[in-house]
Amino acid sequence: MPMKEIRENTLYVDGVSALDLVEDYGTPLYVLSKTAIEERIGELRTSFLDKYPKTRVAYAAKAFMCKAMVQIIEEEGLGLDVVSGGELYTAMAMDFPPERIEFNGNNKSYEELAMAIDYGVGRIIIDGMGELDKIEALCQEKNKKAQVLYRISPGISNIKTHKYMSTGMADSKFGIPLEEGILQGALERAIQSDHVDFYGFHFHVGSQLLDNQSHLEGLGVILDLVEEVYKKFGHRIREINLGGGFGVHYTHQDRPPFAYFLDPLMAMIGKRYDIMGLERPQVVIEPGRSLVAEAGLTLYRVGDIKKIPGIRTYVSVDGGMTDNIRPALYQAEYTGLLANRAQEEEEAPFTIAGKCCESGDILIKDLALPTPKEGDLLAVLSTGAYGYSMASNYNRLPTAPVVLVSRGKSQVMVQGQTYEDLIRNDREVQLK
Ligand code: LLP
Repeated sequence: MPMKEIRENTLYVDGVSALDLVEDYGTPLYVLSKTAIEERIGELRTSFLDKYPKTRVAYAAKAFMCKAMVQIIEEEGLGLDVVSGGELYTAMAMDFPPERIEFNGNNKSYEELAMAIDYGVGRIIIDGMGELDKIEALCQEKNKKAQVLYRISPGISNIKTHKYMSTGMADSKFGIPLEEGILQGALERAIQSDHVDFYGFHFHVGSQLLDNQSHLEGLGVILDLVEEVYKKFGHRIREINLGGGFGVHYTHQDRPPFAYFLDPLMAMIGKRYDIMGLERPQVVIEPGRSLVAEAGLTLYRVGDIKKIPGIRTYVSVDGGMTDNIRPALYQAEYTGLLANRAQEEEEAPFTIAGKCCESGDILIKDLALPTPKEGDLLAVLSTGAYGYSMASNYNRLPTAPVVLVSRGKSQVMVQGQTYEDLIRNDREVQLK
């Protein structure tokens, strides 16, 4: 069952007609194809998990998370990378196996760390030295030992993605900087600690990368560190976490296969460990976007159409930056089509505007379409990652529902909010 196909002028997603979906669930609507997610996980299985021993995949929940997504990840046998108490809580609510959870994030709070240690998460990726203090105190108090990695900021320049999606440069809020004065003490502490079991290093260079250079450069830095640790402390680094960041198709560039990133990375690790004469480490990756982005699309109803002669035609839809902040935040580009007139000739470029009171709330500039009419359905493609997960209630727009489609069937993963939901936590106050 293909993710998308066109039958009788209508867009079908994983075997379900877009017309049926909006009739059942309304608009705006996030639609996610289970088959497409499974295919991407399948590709990871053949090109990574089954191909190389001692490998693990922890899906980066921040890309898209809800209870049902946790179910899918659990069923597929993958791990989960969480970055907050809320993400951890969602995993716990589904009894996700704790040993398959990796806890990332800068500035984890004492309470979040306590929650993670109580639940028994598999790895805590330490982002800064204050965090080690908290973990040691908690483990001492609870008489537990945490399995930890250090996230290293590899200090890479020229990361080929939007600056808000770059993380691996020297000037970064993420990770422990590559500073002799800081690292030396940090390593000694972790290796000697009675309260943590120090597994190795983590790095994440950035997101939506279509070129493997930054990953390779980042790993080079990490492998130098592995060697240094071995020489100085006689300590073998048992695990390397390569982060995520594998890019996907939005408009122009195709998504590279996972192997394009992973084969040279695995070769580098193998070679370096062999030269050092050490047993090869466990290798973990944390893909988020690459598992869900292309599996998702958003359906909108076309509303007001405003033609400004000689300038452009604005086609407004019933969602926008509240369900997809990426164009406004990163100038991210998307493409789309009229889901109810999918085989008609494109006639001109149209600008798709969201309904928020912001000039920047433009979803797509100059999208070639058949001339849209009020009531048409617009599908914006590749919205499965960082759409719902970054949604807001700006202008008091309720968040859209998320529907999972699979081989001709659909079911709700997340209910849409009602107006009642919007005021649920509001409290009246005493004014006098
Ligand atoms: N691991 C770590 C430590 C991360 O910080 C991230 C993403 C990932 C894994 C997953 O990266 P992915 O495979 O999804 O590229 N909101 C932005 C993306 C921010 C990503 C932050 N960290 C966007 O919409 O493009």
